Amino acid sequence: MLDHPHATPEAPTLDERALATALAQRHFIGGRFVPPVAGASFAVINPATGQEIARAAEGDAADVDVAVQNAAAAQKSWARMPARKRGALVAQCAGLIRAHVEELARLIALETGKALRTESRVEANTVADVLEFFGGLGSELKGESVPFAPDVLSVTVREPLGVVGAIIPWNVPLLLMALKIAPALVAGNTVVVKSAEEAPLTVLRICELMNRILPPGCFNMLSGYGPECGAPLVAHKLVRKVTFTGSVEVGRIVARAAADKLIPVTLELGGKSPMLVFADCDFEKTVTGAVTSMRFTRQGQSCTAASRIYVERPIFARFVEALAARVDAMVMGDPLDEATDIGTIISPEQFAKVAAFIAEGKATAGASGRACSRLPAEAGLKKGLFIQPHIFTGLPNSSRLVQQEIFGPVTCVFPFDDAEAVLAEANDSEYGLAASLWTNNLKQGLSLAHRLEAGLVQINQNLVVQANLSYGGVKSSGLGKEASLEAMLEHFTHKKTIMVNYA
Ligand code: NAI
Ligand code: MG
Repeated sequence: MLDHPHATPEAPTLDERALATALAQRHFIGGRFVPPVAGASFAVINPATGQEIARAAEGDAADVDVAVQNAAAAQKSWARMPARKRGALVAQCAGLIRAHVEELARLIALETGKALRTESRVEANTVADVLEFFGGLGSELKGESVPFAPDVLSVTVREPLGVVGAIIPWNVPLLLMALKIAPALVAGNTVVVKSAEEAPLTVLRICELMNRILPPGCFNMLSGYGPECGAPLVAHKLVRKVTFTGSVEVGRIVARAAADKLIPVTLELGGKSPMLVFADCDFEKTVTGAVTSMRFTRQGQSCTAASRIYVERPIFARFVEALAARVDAMVMGDPLDEATDIGTIISPEQFAKVAAFIAEGKATAGASGRACSRLPAEAGLKKGLFIQPHIFTGLPNSSRLVQQEIFGPVTCVFPFDDAEAVLAEANDSEYGLAASLWTNNLKQGLSLAHRLEAGLVQINQNLVVQANLSYGGVKSSGLGKEASLEAMLEHFTHKKTIMVNYA
């Protein structure tokens, strides 16, 4: 039996625990909260304390079917609404999200262990930015006229694909969801999101809030496990497009299932992003850049984390010292505390995985791993999934730490002598998501930027994903782009040709 849920608050709340309880055990489908068909649920854990926050609805194929049927029914009239009006509604949602930023930030900090000041609040704000950006693009859904023959008018129009299935991860769930739903909706599709099992609550609240503005059925939210709830979403016959962010392993499964149905799929997968630091760089700016690029404030749980840092030999030792000193000065602690820079790892599984990488690095002959910052001392956080950031030097290129995505606060630093050799090493990776170069020699920087195998290369900066910046990797890092106008047009519409013979 369901322990029946409380009503969610109408106004923004700063009581994240009560909000979590109110969001328990429900999906959001067809404009309202609904309990899962089978009545099953799973625990959502606060990774800073190990305590249960709430139980989330455990969806399966039956819930998927209800959600997709609702989305399909809503899609016809949503697609007929003028594109600018759809955009205006999505942009209006941005205002509602802004009014709830503090609430959403506290809730996401509670469920993911990401620090409020350095990560969670920033992420909640980006959702509003993304909705606003795509909300303004309704009138960009333009076609072309095609010169074909005299007395024949030949035009293309952009049409939505139908119901979009979106599967999201736990590391930046709000932003990554916004980058999928906003362009999908503005383009006239309706969406069913399957949240990550580690972070189902804040996205559910966002769905509820946006449904105060959007017509019912346009934006639906399911929680549940990947094989039981994500797989049937991909496989559902009325789902005409899938967009996925997560591991390479599951990305391949999703792509295979999409291939069976011959539907398009966008994949944002892992990374092992290199950072190339030249001796002529602006030293302090580059050290700061390494701290932000490695996403130490997100415990390194980022697909673009600069987890391989190559430093030109004359400044190598000084750079490693300066980086370690910076990370050492960062405060690890309660994610909800404003003083905290670094929170926790998301789950015991991820914790064990990261810890195994660190142990392996420490056991590697010739390698040294420097542990930075300090574990929190508070008794209440003793069961928290805190892990010290580690900076490794002396690892061979063949090491698992250098080749595989760790998705934790672990970076490997190497000295280099030659630009061509370091380029080859940087490209010697299964992944190709992002890369950065730090140098004042722009001739060299630009030449390398063109030859680095990555979807995004930045010189002397390393911004996180932003609206308007096409984002997506090559090689095993994924397929397709997100976050931009082109991404909306290419991945959430198809072009229909209409010809009129008026001879
Ligand atoms: P995952 O790829 O298993 O999970 C991502 C999403 O896919 C979740 O919503 C999950 O429920 C869903 N999913 C899992 N199996 C599925 C299936 N058979 N069909 C449909 N959906 C399915 O990632 P996980 O296990 O959370 O993390 C493992 C590793 O993946 C991390 O250590 C990291 O290396 C990588 N990862 C990369 C992310 C990125 O931003 N590109 C985000 C999260 C994880
Ligand atoms: Mg998994």
